[in-house]
Order: sequence, then structure tokens, then C-alpha cells
Amino acid sequence: MEGEFMAYKPKSFETLLGIPGLSDQLLKNHFTLYQGYLNNTNRLIEILNAMVKEGKTGIPEYAELKRRFGWEWNGMRLHEYYFGNMVKEASEFNKNSKLFKKLVEDFGSYENWEKEFRAIGAMRGIGWVILYYDRFTGRLINQWINEHDAGHLSGAAPILIMDVFEHAYMIDYGLKRADYIEAFFKAIDWKVAADRFDEASAK
Ligand SMILES: [Fe+2]
Repeated sequence: MEGEFMAYKPKSFETLLGIPGLSDQLLKNHFTLYQGYLNNTNRLIEILNAMVKEGKTGIPEYAELKRRFGWEWNGMRLHEYYFGNMVKEASEFNKNSKLFKKLVEDFGSYENWEKEFRAIGAMRGIGWVILYYDRFTGRLINQWINEHDAGHLSGAAPILIMDVFEHAYMIDYGLKRADYIEAFFKAIDWKVAADRFDEASAK
């Protein structure tokens, strides 16, 4: 049907509860925030579709809601990537994986890559750190995303995502963001990241 859409449905990340370094209280709050982005994304689609049907696209209300869509949608999707690349049981990064080898190739060493990824996460401000794979050149790039919607690299695939909004750590760590980043690194699901890379880099 014209104008109908399949509403986005929230994914469950309850299996992360009990993860070392992040309290259940923090995670549950974070899941609620994620669902808020998802609900608002669905709501915005409905409102924008209705405005198009009614011919109300030439007004500031339409323009502002359309601009906001990228913020809500990315707030939803980035959390899905982020929770999706964490795991309760510590995971080993397979040194024979294509991703590990490419990190060494592009950054000189795994350690160089990790150092930059952590440093970007420590930058002042709220946002995200994304390890991207540029499908056009085959290059891995660590990127800062401001808020949810500014700084994305077009055509590049997200491989590993870390949330550095204050809600991601303040309940547990206060201002000690580096300690949260440490906990995040212990919780990375390297299998997921390696699989994302394999998929993105497949010819
Ligand atoms: Fe978040």
C-alpha cells in the first residue's frame, strides 16, 4: 500500500546483561534510550509520509523533521551496531582473520590501530567512534561521529562501533571515560567485527 511501511522493531540485547565492566542498570537504561530512537524513527516516518500525502513538503516543519530523521535513525542503527559488537564472554581476536591482517596492513600494527581508536574515543564531546571499511579503496579508517548524524563516511561499512555519549558510561564510571573504554575493549565481540569485515570486503 502506498505510504505504508514496515515499522522498525527493536532488537533485544538482554544477553549482554551481566557483562563485566558495565552494570545492568547502565545497560537497561541504554536499551531504553535505543528503543526511544527506534520509536521516534517510526513516528517520523509516519508523520513525514502523511505530510507528503497532504502536500505539506514546502514548509519549515517538513524540512526540520526531515533533517531530524537522520539523527533519530542513526541513533537507532548505531546502537544496534554497538550492542551487536559486544559480548559477555571475552572474545579472542583471531590473528588469522582478514580483519586483523588488514588492521596491521593499514595502521602498521594492531597496537597503532587500537591507540588511535581509543584516542578518538577520548575526544571531548558526545558521539561515536567507528572503524570503517571504505569499499571504494579497501581502506580501514577510524572516524569520529558527532552526535549520531554528523561525520559518516559515505559508502564505507561500519566494522566496529563504540558509543561515547555520557549515558554509555557515566552511571558506572563518572568522568573516567578511559576506564569505560577499557571495559568496552574487554567486551568487544571480535568475531562479529571480523564477520562484518568479511562481508563488506567480499568481492
Ligand atoms: Fe548510546
